[in-house]
Amino acid sequence: MERFIGNILDYFDEESPEATEFRRLYSKLKNLYAGQNIKNLLITSSTIGEGKSTTAALLACTVARYRETKTILVDCDLRRPRVHQLFNLSKEDGVADVLLGNKRLDTCFKQSPLENLKILTSGGVVDNPTELFNSPKMKDLFSEIKFYFDAVIVDSPPINPVTDALILAPEMDGALMVIKAGQTPKEVVRRAVELMRNTGVNILGVIVNNMKEVLPYYYDYRYYGYDYYAKSIKAA
Ligand SMILES: Nc1ncnc2c1ncn2[C@@H]1O[C@H](COP(=O)(O)OP(=O)(O)OP(=O)(O)O)[C@@H](O)[C@H]1O
Ligand SMILES: [Mg+2]
Repeated sequence: MERFIGNILDYFDEESPEATEFRRLYSKLKNLYAGQNIKNLLITSSTIGEGKSTTAALLACTVARYRETKTILVDCDLRRPRVHQLFNLSKEDGVADVLLGNKRLDTCFKQSPLENLKILTSGGVVDNPTELFNSPKMKDLFSEIKFYFDAVIVDSPPINPVTDALILAPEMDGALMVIKAGQTPKEVVRRAVELMRNTGVNILGVIVNNMKEVLPYYYDYRYYGYDYYAKSIKAA
């Protein structure tokens, strides 16, 4: 996996095509669900490496910038944590430590370069993420997060291999599913949608991450050809 040098925001200035795409995505979401107060979003996908963490980070930056609201990005992928790398932060003192009762939540919020965006990293390594998410402390964690913040964006592991995201979903207003265009087979996506529907997850839409044309330039976000869009899959 590629490592960031610096901070994801260094590659996401307000004039960039990526920032425009994310503003569009965010306003589509707001229009699609105009009547509902969607503030807490789970970002997931069917399988690994589809762009969940990148999407979660850029969406959180967009919400914090344009909604000017107190926003937090939470790394709930305790298996392949990545948010801390994107913001050049230490992984320690985060979700796992709070769930284990080793840290108080309000001591773990880390500042991003954006005034309105705080980060809760994954915390120390644990062997039993699913068990941790299944504990009653998880509900307390999210009630407390929602008390402090107006918008919550959660990065999570993929749906098909592990149940963590399905356990987290009820704490959120809905989930956005990232699909790596041209790569993830339909059946794999279908399986994830089925699992999410069976668990009653409110699937708000899909985000197609078009990575295939740009991989040779993966080292530099300025060359990224994002093709993100959200559409309701309820009608599909
Ligand atoms: N639009 C894009 N264009 C090019 N590269 C991308 C794009 N989106 C993500 N990437 C790169 O693809 C890799 C995987 O992205 P990311 O970590 O966001 O995926 P993920 O779904 O969170 O993965 P995991 O399942 O490991 O958590 C990273 O190296 C990231 O920089
Ligand atoms: Mg990830």
